[in-house]
Amino acid sequence: MRITRLLGKNEIRSKIAEIAKRLVADFSGKEVTFLIVLKGAKPFWKYLKKVIGNHIAYAEEDIKLKSYHGTASKGSITLSKPPSISTIRGREIVIIEDIVDTGRTLAFLLEYLAKSGAKKAVVCSLLSKPSRREVAVAVEYLGFEIEDRFVVGFGMDYDEKYRELPYIGMID
Ligand code: IMP
Ligand code: MG
Repeated sequence: MRITRLLGKNEIRSKIAEIAKRLVADFSGKEVTFLIVLKGAKPFWKYLKKVIGNHIAYAEEDIKLKSYHGTASKGSITLSKPPSISTIRGREIVIIEDIVDTGRTLAFLLEYLAKSGAKKAVVCSLLSKPSRREVAVAVEYLGFEIEDRFVVGFGMDYDEKYRELPYIGMID
């Protein structure tokens, strides 16, 4: 299996810094919770958090959904690590994702958050593959749009491999 570099770590980090500054501007003075979608969004959140620092007060929680096996999306989505209601109800939520593909995972999550009493929920994703979308989801904070290629690295995996790569590469 060959991996071709798509986005280097400096390019990724400076984009993340831009997004972090927008988040600080948009959420200062608000009751915001960042929901980190494990495991893929961990490195993205790590660098966002560095720039956000203590410029705003926030809550953060890891959540886990199961929807993907190998390179093909599976129909059903489950929340295997749900957030606690106290960090959701009445609060503004920012979902931190690695990549939006079909949009099914986020559509499920947004519906779940609305039902759980979130005041508002928006999506912040490092990557998006718009040509793969099956369900429309608004991505308010987006790093990069990419074409329909399977990518790994910077948190993203192919069957649990390559998450630790410091750059994002495409699998050929
Ligand atoms: P969706 O529900 O189809 O939008 O897929 C969401 C999840 O699938 C993402 O959060 C990723 O975890 C995973 N995924 C989608 N495309 C890729 C990819 O190219 N590389 C690695 N993971 C991916
Ligand atoms: Mg993900």
